[in-house]
Amino acid sequence: MSILQFFYLLSAALFILGIRGLSSPETARRGMNLASLGMLVAVVGTLFHHEIVNYYWIIGGLILGTAIGIPLSMIPMTAVPQRTALSHAGGALAACLIGISEYYRHGVQLGTTHMAIIGVEVMLGALTTTGSLMAAAKLQGLLPGRPITYRFQNVSNISLLAALAGLVVYLTLHPGDIRMFYLLLGGSFLFGILLLIPIGAADMPCVITLLNSYAGLTDAAMGFMLANRIQIITGSLDGSSGFILSVLMSRAMNRNFINILFGAFGKVEESSVEVLEVKKKSVKSLKVEEVSKFLNEARSVIIVPGYGMAAAQAQHAVRDVADKLKTRGAKVRYAIHPVAGRMPGHMNVLLAEANVPYTELIDMEEINPEFSQADVALVVGANDVTNPAARHVKSSPIYGMPILDVDKAKKVVVLKRSMAPGFAGIDNELYVLEHTWMLFGDAKDSLTQLAGTLQNGT
Ligand code: TAP
Repeated sequence: MSILQFFYLLSAALFILGIRGLSSPETARRGMNLASLGMLVAVVGTLFHHEIVNYYWIIGGLILGTAIGIPLSMIPMTAVPQRTALSHAGGALAACLIGISEYYRHGVQLGTTHMAIIGVEVMLGALTTTGSLMAAAKLQGLLPGRPITYRFQNVSNISLLAALAGLVVYLTLHPGDIRMFYLLLGGSFLFGILLLIPIGAADMPCVITLLNSYAGLTDAAMGFMLANRIQIITGSLDGSSGFILSVLMSRAMNRNFINILFGAFGKVEESSVEVLEVKKKSVKSLKVEEVSKFLNEARSVIIVPGYGMAAAQAQHAVRDVADKLKTRGAKVRYAIHPVAGRMPGHMNVLLAEANVPYTELIDMEEINPEFSQADVALVVGANDVTNPAARHVKSSPIYGMPILDVDKAKKVVVLKRSMAPGFAGIDNELYVLEHTWMLFGDAKDSLTQLAGTLQNGT
C-alpha cells in the first residue's frame, strides 16, 4: 500500500467515525474533531500525490482558503445557516471548475463515460453554486425571504431541467461540441437561481441540506473523473448524509420534497380568517416579580428554547434559572423542537455550551405528552415552533408542521421583546390564550433578573 493510499484509508475511517460521533450530543464534539482530523490527513496525504508537479498553486490556495476561512468562522452562531450555504456554493464551484478544466484538457478525446461524468458534475456543480448563493442571500435578508412565483413556473423549471439532462446526453455522444458545453454550464447556473426563487425562507433549512447533498454528489462525480478514491468516499458520505438530514428535517416539518421544491411554501395568507382573529385579541403581560411568583410555586417546569435564546445568547442565564428551580425541588426539562433556531441541533449546541445535562434535553415527541402535567411552560424566544395555528390554520405557511404542545401546559410564560412575529412572519395564537402571559424584554436580561428574584431552595 502506498503512503497516499494509507493516508486516504485513515482519513476515510476518521470521517466515518466522525459522522458516527455526530449521532449523539454527548459524542458530537469528539465526532467533529475526528472529522476535522480526517480532512487534515486527506489534505496532507494529497500533498504526497506523485502527479503533483509544483506546490506553488497549492500553497497559494492554502493561504487564500485560510484567509477566507478564518473570518468566516468568526460570524455569530445565528448566521451559521447562511455561512453553510456559502460553503456549499464554494465546494460546488470548485467541483464545477475542475469539470471545466478537465473538459478543456481532454476535450474531444473524452470517452463516453468520462464525458457523462463531467456533464453531470458541471450541471450539479453550477446549479448548486447559484442555488446556494440564493439560499444564503434569502437567509441573510439580502433577497426577500418570501416565495416569488409566476405563471407556468413549475412547467418552465421542469422543462429547463429536462433540457439540461438532454444536453448532458448530447455531449456524451458529441464531446467536441464546445458551444453545447457552455450552454449546459450557463443553463445550470440559471436553473439554480430559478429553483430557489419560489422557495420561501421557512423551507431553507431543508433546501440547504438538499444542496449539501448535491454538492456531495458533485464531489463524488469529480472523484470518479480524477480516479481519486477519497473524493468518491467523501462525496458519497456528504451526499448521503445531506440527503438523510433533508429527509429527517422535512419529516420534522411535515413537508415532502416535491412540495418544498414546487409548493411555494412560506406565502402568508394575511386575509385568512384565523390570522385576523389573533390580531383582534389582546395579550397579557407580567413583570419579572410576577413570573418569579409563578415559578416559585411550580413543581414541574418545561423550558422551551427558540431562536430568541440564540439571538440573546441567553443559554447561560436559562441554566441559572433552571438551577435555582432545581434547588427548590422543581422538575425542570427542556423541550427541543427539531427546527427551533436557525440550524439543525441549534438548541442542543447552545445548551451544551452552558453545560445543561443532556438528559434534561427532551425531543419533541417525548416531551409533548408531558406538557399537560407541567405547571409552567417557560418559552424563551421560541415562536413558530409553539404556534397552535400549525395544527388547524390551513392557509398558514406552517400548517402541518409538528409543534411543541406548549399551549397544553397549565401556565405559559413567553419571553420575547415585542409582538413581532418569528421566522415564518405570522402571528402566534399561543400569545392570546387565557393561560398565557408575556414577559417582554431581551431574553437574557429577563432571565438574569428572574434568576435574581427566584427563591433559593432550603
Ligand atoms: P422564531 O419563530 O424565528 O421566533 C423567534 C422569536 O425570538 C421571535 O419572535 C423574536 O421576537 C424572539 N427574539 C429575537 N431576539 C430576541 C431576544 N434578544 N430576546 C428575546 N426574544 C427574542 O423561532 P423558533 O420558534 O425557534 O422557530 C424557528 C423558525 O426558524 C421556524 O420557522 C423554522 O422553520 C425556521 N428555520 C429553522 C432552521 C433550523 S434548521 N432550525 C433554519 C432556518 C429557519 P421579538 O423580536 O419580539 O423579540
